Formats: sequence, C-alpha cells, structure tokens
Amino acid sequence: MHMRTYNIAIDGPAGAGKSTIARKAAEKLGFIYVDTGAMYRAMALYILRQGIDRADEKAVEKACGNMDISLCYEEGVQKVLLNGEDVSGLIRAEEVGRTTSAISVYRAVRQKLLELQRDLARNYDVIMDGRDIGTCVLPDAQTKIYLTASSHVRALRRLKELEEKGQMCNLEEIEQDIIERDYRDMHREIAPLKQAEDAVLVDSSHMSIEQVVDTIVKTARAAGLRGAGE
Ligand code: DC
Repeated sequence: MHMRTYNIAIDGPAGAGKSTIARKAAEKLGFIYVDTGAMYRAMALYILRQGIDRADEKAVEKACGNMDISLCYEEGVQKVLLNGEDVSGLIRAEEVGRTTSAISVYRAVRQKLLELQRDLARNYDVIMDGRDIGTCVLPDAQTKIYLTASSHVRALRRLKELEEKGQMCNLEEIEQDIIERDYRDMHREIAPLKQAEDAVLVDSSHMSIEQVVDTIVKTARAAGLRGAGE
C-alpha cells in the first residue's frame, strides 16, 4: 500500500522569509525543502542568456521546450540544474528576479513546472515554498501557511542581505521593486499569489526566524503530523 506523503505548502510575497524558514523547518522535520522560485528563476536565466524578449510570450513558450529543469540535493541543500548545469549561484541576481516575475505569468512556463513539483510532493515529505503552492500545485497539502511581512520590513531585510554581499543599494528603490513584484505576482491571470482559504496566516514583520519556524512546526503537528522534529 502506498503511504501518503506529508506536504507543507508555504506561500507568500518576495522577502517574507519563506526560503530561510522553509529550509530550517525542513531540517527540523526531516523533510525535503523544495524552493519552487529557484525553478522559475532557472527558466528566467535561460531566457536572459538566449537574449529572448521576456515580453514575447510565443518566444518564451518555444524556449520552454529547450530547457530541462531539475533539482538535486547535496548534503540536504537544494541545487537547481538547467540543462544539467548547476545554476544555483547565478539565479539570485536582481535582473533574474525581475525576469522571473515577468515570465512566470505565462501558461507554458507554469505548466512546465507543475508536474515536476507535484511529483516531488507525491514521492517525498516536502515543505514547498512559492506563490501558488497551497492554491494550485498542492491543494491537498496537509498544512498550508501564508507567510507575509510589511513591504517596508521586507525591503529592510533585502537591503541588509545586499549590503552583506558588499552591494550598495537604495532602500526606496528596493521597496518600490518589492511593491511592483507583489503587484504583478498577485494580479496575474494564472495562479496568482493569494492566501488559500485553508492556509494559516503568519505575519513575520515582528517575529524572529525561530518563532516563525516554531509556528510552522506547531501548525503541522496540530494538523496531524507526528514523529520527527520533537
Ligand atoms: O520566491 P522567489 O523570489 O525566488 O520567486 C521569484 C519569482 O518567481 C516570483 O516573483 C514569482 C515567481 N514564482 C511563481 O510565480 N510561482 C512560484 N511558485 C514561485 C515563484
């Protein structure tokens, strides 16, 4: 008999801390962490590298047929592969982020990743983060979290990250970028970012990482998850 895997979906806007939190919670629970944004970012990198106009839906759709996106794990850390090349380090650039948000509105782009994401969730206990996980990809996930924070707090966090990398940035510009990206992710026609009806809302603006991780683990326990991470 096939045992059903346990799935935790975490959705929310850019910079709410989804990846940091999902990674830590996955470690605590012995789950696999699936960063779906990284998959979309790898697709965007391909589009940028090929010099394809991101506004040209037909060209982007055609390019989808030439990309192979896959994930692998090294010591529990997710790596994303684009046609076999590990591009994990290259996909975090701001330009890639903007292109990702722009191409993730297209049906062909979303369709390509949907089955891959569902397969992972069918085969493993996963914490999967993204924008449409609780609403579209895994509507039957046992635990759903909608993780958010104010745009100002998210901009401050992003500024700190960039400064740690030695990049000088402007807070207002970062916040504006975040607001625009939120708007696009929330208002697109296919699979927009929104809180699933059965998701638990967590606002991390004034919470520590540990507090958020604890909230997620407790929510999963309350929803019937037993065993690991106690
Ligand atoms: O989470 P992130 O910043 O790496 O995501 C980058 C972009 O990818 C985001 O602006 C929207 C898109 N995305 C999406 O449309 N659906 C997902 N499940 C994950 C990301």
